[in-house]
Amino acid sequence: MLRAARERFLPASQREHAEQDHPLPIGHGQTSSQPRTVREMLRLLETRPGQRVLDVGCGSGWTTALLAHLVGPAGSVLGVELEPELAAWGRANVLAEGLPWARVEAALPGVLGWPDGAPYERVLVSAEPQSLPDELVQQLAPGGVMVIPVAGRMLRVRRPLEGKPRVEQLGRYRFVPLR
Ligand SMILES: C[S@@+](CC[C@H](N)C(=O)[O-])C[C@H]1O[C@@H](n2cnc3c(N)ncnc32)[C@H](O)[C@@H]1O
Repeated sequence: MLRAARERFLPASQREHAEQDHPLPIGHGQTSSQPRTVREMLRLLETRPGQRVLDVGCGSGWTTALLAHLVGPAGSVLGVELEPELAAWGRANVLAEGLPWARVEAALPGVLGWPDGAPYERVLVSAEPQSLPDELVQQLAPGGVMVIPVAGRMLRVRRPLEGKPRVEQLGRYRFVPLR
């Protein structure tokens, strides 16, 4: 988190609040997530160097940059953001960090995640659906892990090599809705 300071992923009007452990507005009714929550989600995701990661709802690009530091240049991170203006700003923020193995795309209409780049070994989701989206589980590689808030609870979803995904419930959180 020191290497991708939150301040650089906030609108100018919010930068003075970067150190506060609260969600902060980033425009379009969306937020930069609470740092403590981001740290916990990254811990739960168990990201390792060299992995391919999908970051759904990347907003400012902060989590995309943090994940890029975790996977290193041997890995790759794709951030996807639904709000086109946020996607453009998030892309510029990530570009400015000088992490060429990370990139941001605007979500395609009616498409959840980025199926064309699947499978991903890790999937981080920073917006909340009411039930676990099968489209995202399908984009997870066998052996992969997804961390996603669903209906007020943080879930860690492990896709085994065979059979149904295993789901752990890990605490209560509130997020903006996944749309
Ligand atoms: C909590 S906010 C941003 C979190 C981001 N990690 C940050 O710190 O800036 C979640 C984002 O998810 C986006 N979002 C909601 N539904 C989405 C979807 N289906 N695909 C991609 N992004 C989505 C919202 O527009 C919002 O910017």
